Amino acid sequence: VNKFIDIASLRVEYSTKRFNPEDANPNPYKQFDEWLKEAVYADVPEPNAMTLATITEANTPSARIVLLKGLDERGFTFFTNYNSAKGLAIKKNPHVALVFCWLELQRQVRIEGIAEKLPAAESDAYFSARPYGSQIGAHASPQSSVIANSTVLEQQFEYFTKKYPEGKVPRPENWGGYLVKPQLIEFWQGRASRMHDRLQYTQRDGRWLIQLLAP
Ligand SMILES: Cc1cc2nc3c(=O)[nH]c(=O)nc-3n(C[C@H](O)[C@H](O)[C@H](O)COP(=O)(O)O)c2cc1C
Repeated sequence: VNKFIDIASLRVEYSTKRFNPEDANPNPYKQFDEWLKEAVYADVPEPNAMTLATITEANTPSARIVLLKGLDERGFTFFTNYNSAKGLAIKKNPHVALVFCWLELQRQVRIEGIAEKLPAAESDAYFSARPYGSQIGAHASPQSSVIANSTVLEQQFEYFTKKYPEGKVPRPENWGGYLVKPQLIEFWQGRASRMHDRLQYTQRDGRWLIQLLAP
């Protein structure tokens, strides 16, 4: 009942939180994991939602939300249609940026790096773990293409439901994961009077350099 009030009080609490270089995990993946866990415990809605920015063929920026589906020492993983607008953009220019925004914790994480396709076996493993409807949807939707009306899409969905029974849906070749290998990760902790804490990790000769940035 008092969920709204609880969230407000959490906010007050966190505005006094600091993020100092001496508190930072030397490994940015572990630091990210800690913050993501805290976002989950704080009931942030869709805490793994992130903005993905790409560069189009015309050299213009383009951004949309996708879901983070994996994190390890290689980088950050998400899944999509390889022939979508973002997929084609990445093919031309693999430089991407990711942004997480956890307002309940007054936190932001910014990532810049290079996207590459996940090995097919890993995309297969994730695809086979998805719900049946999502698997069919991946076949039915030519993501980012203009379609005449939604009936076309429904007919496609119908068609693939008949073609592939539950448990027997192969991964479409044009659907899979991307791994974003980060070159820069910035952690931002909001503080009073705009005196925010910003810590930037950058790759230097296989090691992570940690620097404090002015807010
Ligand atoms: C909360 C949320 C999560 C989303 N997750 C994904 C995702 O994981 N993969 C994906 O392809 N699209 C996802 N989308 C849809 C994308 O934002 C976007 O509409 C779609 O991928 C087409 O983008 P594009 O035309 O720029 O390629 C999500 C949207 C929202 C609002």
